[in-house]
Amino acid sequence: MLYKLFVLAEKNKLSPIEKIKTASDGLRGTLQESLADAITGAIREDDTALIKFHGMYQQDDRDRREERTEKKLEWLYSFMIRLRLPGGLMNAEQWVGLNHIAGEYSTGVIKITTRQTIQLHGIVKAEIKPTISAFNTLHLDSIAACGDVNRNVVCSSHPSQSILHKEVFSYAEKISIMALPKTRSYYEIWLNEEPLTGDQKKEEADPLYQDRYLPRKFKIAIAIPPDNDVDVFANDIGMIAIEENGKLAGFNIAAGGGLSTTHGNPATYARLASMLGFISGEDKIMKVVYEIITIQRDYGNRSDRKLARLKYTIDNMGLETFKAELEKRCGFPLEPARPYVFTKREDHFGWKQDHTGKWYYTVFTENGIIKDDGKIALKSGLLEIAQTGKVFFRFTCNQNLVLSDIQSADKNVIENLLNSTGIEKHTLQASLVRRNAIACVAFNTCPLALAEAQRYLPSLISKIEPLLEKHHIEKEELHLRMTGCPNGCGRPYVAEIGLIGTAYGKYNLHLGGDRFGERLNIKYKDSLDEEGILTELNGLFEKFSNEKMDGEEFGDFVTRKKIV
Ligand code: HEM
Ligand code: SF4
Repeated sequence: MLYKLFVLAEKNKLSPIEKIKTASDGLRGTLQESLADAITGAIREDDTALIKFHGMYQQDDRDRREERTEKKLEWLYSFMIRLRLPGGLMNAEQWVGLNHIAGEYSTGVIKITTRQTIQLHGIVKAEIKPTISAFNTLHLDSIAACGDVNRNVVCSSHPSQSILHKEVFSYAEKISIMALPKTRSYYEIWLNEEPLTGDQKKEEADPLYQDRYLPRKFKIAIAIPPDNDVDVFANDIGMIAIEENGKLAGFNIAAGGGLSTTHGNPATYARLASMLGFISGEDKIMKVVYEIITIQRDYGNRSDRKLARLKYTIDNMGLETFKAELEKRCGFPLEPARPYVFTKREDHFGWKQDHTGKWYYTVFTENGIIKDDGKIALKSGLLEIAQTGKVFFRFTCNQNLVLSDIQSADKNVIENLLNSTGIEKHTLQASLVRRNAIACVAFNTCPLALAEAQRYLPSLISKIEPLLEKHHIEKEELHLRMTGCPNGCGRPYVAEIGLIGTAYGKYNLHLGGDRFGERLNIKYKDSLDEEGILTELNGLFEKFSNEKMDGEEFGDFVTRKKIV
């Protein structure tokens, strides 16, 4: 009761974005007017919040801000478009289309994100509609890929690893559709659909999101043990598929994971999802997911966006109260969680075969960036492979790519292409630390970046590799992740080594996450520059090499030794 009073009090001071959402007429706002305004490359301020729900962020080229300001020119605005791609799957025809869309309308770079989808950057305002329309002809959309709604639903990527994969994967699609906003605004604004009138408007009634949507972004991940490639506990809802006698028995459901923090705001924290219990049967599984979202809709903090994620709602309510409310809304209890074990979070690089005989090749794509450069013509090579029509493209939450569902008869063709394009060599030659590393986007597009990430991490790794070799630990599957700010888009808080940007060229060094995403790391050193990072790591690697127990991993070692 007290909690409800608190929520009511909070409601009286809604954050400005809450007002924009409810006044938006189904996320339309003044987006049409913003698009029509040829004087500026930007859109109106309120629309920058709304366009996220359509899968886009307004950005500007931060490398050129100073020069533009000096010349008294408007900043160089453009848009990032992120696809909704449940479970991260695309067919070959869609990849070929994506390749052309990227070349025609964006910077040309295809970016695999840490949540298993694709982003294109640098799309100018006038090219948004043609881009969305081109995606639409490929049966791809960007609805709810960003914004205060359920975002891309991720699912373990490697079909060769589990006979359950197909069935579990279908839940990613089903949940994504269940949690789509009902408004037709995406189709009206970007695809010229006739606006609804009169009674037709009733079709847009949205029992899940109503007119206020969620207090904050919402993320769902599905893991298929023994793989935790999705970092299931970093999500608002984490679903763990439980296999019994070769069949999907149901899911363990965890809730309240979320990583972002704010420097200097002690009220914010990274949190792993808490286990609620087990549920079986499709109707009940879907109901549990739905009602967790409604609780967050009704009880989440709508006045302070920094404290609005489900993790804070759960901690404010108390886990038991939250669970009781969930069971009340569902009308049935959850069973106790069933046993499972995670033994791997990395991708399964190279060739693998599944139980039906189909083949899979996991390609290393450094920080998910697909382009042709001096090192490797990855984009052209993948286009050639897609043009055979003999593969599917699956994206991993580790920012890599699985060429999938290859028939035995076609394996040779793909193998030859992997060879001739240099993709196989590129994948196999990369060191383990490089293959497993993750960096977020940061500069030059992310408006929130304090430090570099994806543009810098490759060169830092080139300096870390010799240290690992010097201490004879280069065969360790070390997990190192870097982000340009504490929002944590590259999940640095669950890495063995996390580097989190504090200022240009400066990073907090976090240590001690485990290798399976089941333990958060802890800050070890503040705001180190490159020299500081390398000096610290050199000392730690030396100690690890000399003092580790048999089979002990780096994150466990620094924890056991109480280094953090
Ligand atoms: C308050 C918290 C957060 C804010 C404000 C935020 C904001 C942003 C922004 C502005 C971008 C666009 C960067 C660009 O493309 O230039 C971005 C990218 C992204 N964010 Fe976040 N983010 C937050 C937390 C997270 C967390 C915790 C995750 C995942 C665990 C995440 C996942 C992603 C992904 C997958 C991308 C796409 C690019 C990539 O793979 O690096 N975000 N975020
Ligand atoms: S972690 Fe920060 S810098 Fe990196 S993409 Fe996310 S918001 Fe931007």
